[in-house]
Amino acid sequence: MDLSPHLPSSGRALVVAAAVVDDLRTPTRLLAARRTGPSVLAGGWELPGGKVELDETPLEALHRELREELGVVVEVGPPVDGPLPGRSWLLGERYEMLVWLAVVVEGEPAAIEDHDEVRWLGAGHLFDVAWLPADLPIVERLEARFGAS
Ligand code: C5P
Repeated sequence: MDLSPHLPSSGRALVVAAAVVDDLRTPTRLLAARRTGPSVLAGGWELPGGKVELDETPLEALHRELREELGVVVEVGPPVDGPLPGRSWLLGERYEMLVWLAVVVEGEPAAIEDHDEVRWLGAGHLFDVAWLPADLPIVERLEARFGAS
C-alpha cells in the first residue's frame, strides 16, 4: 500500500475521510457521522475523518482520526477517487479531501469526539441523512458500489 504523502499542489489543506462500510467487496451499509461543530457544519452528516497533520501521512491521519473520533481500528480498502489532480475531492475553498473505503476490524463505531451520532445507512437509505454539501457527491459516487439490501 502506498503510504507516501499526497500533498495537494493547490495550496488547500489536505483532509482525509473514510467511507466505512460493512464489506469492502459488496458493501450493503455505509457509516455516517453527525458533526457537532463548527456551527456552520453542526448537524450535518459526513464521512468521518479530518485534517492531515504535518508529521503524518494521509493514511496515518485516517487511522488516527477514526480511532479518536469513533473508537475503531479499520482496515483501509481502495480509494474513492475524486475529480481533482491527486484524485481528491474539493471541500470549499480551503480544503481538499482524499477518501478510502474502510471496514472496522476492532471496536464498535461510537460518537466519541466531534460527532453526536453515528448511523449505519442501508443501500436504499444512503440519502436519508443531511450530508454536508461537500460529501454529497462522494456518497453519490459510492452508491454505485452498493448492492440491494
Ligand atoms: O474534521 P475537520 O474539522 O478536521 O475537517 C476539516 C474540514 O473539512 C471541515 O471544516 C469540513 O469543512 C471539511 N470536511 C468535510 N467533510 C468531511 C470531513 C471534513 O466537508 N467528511
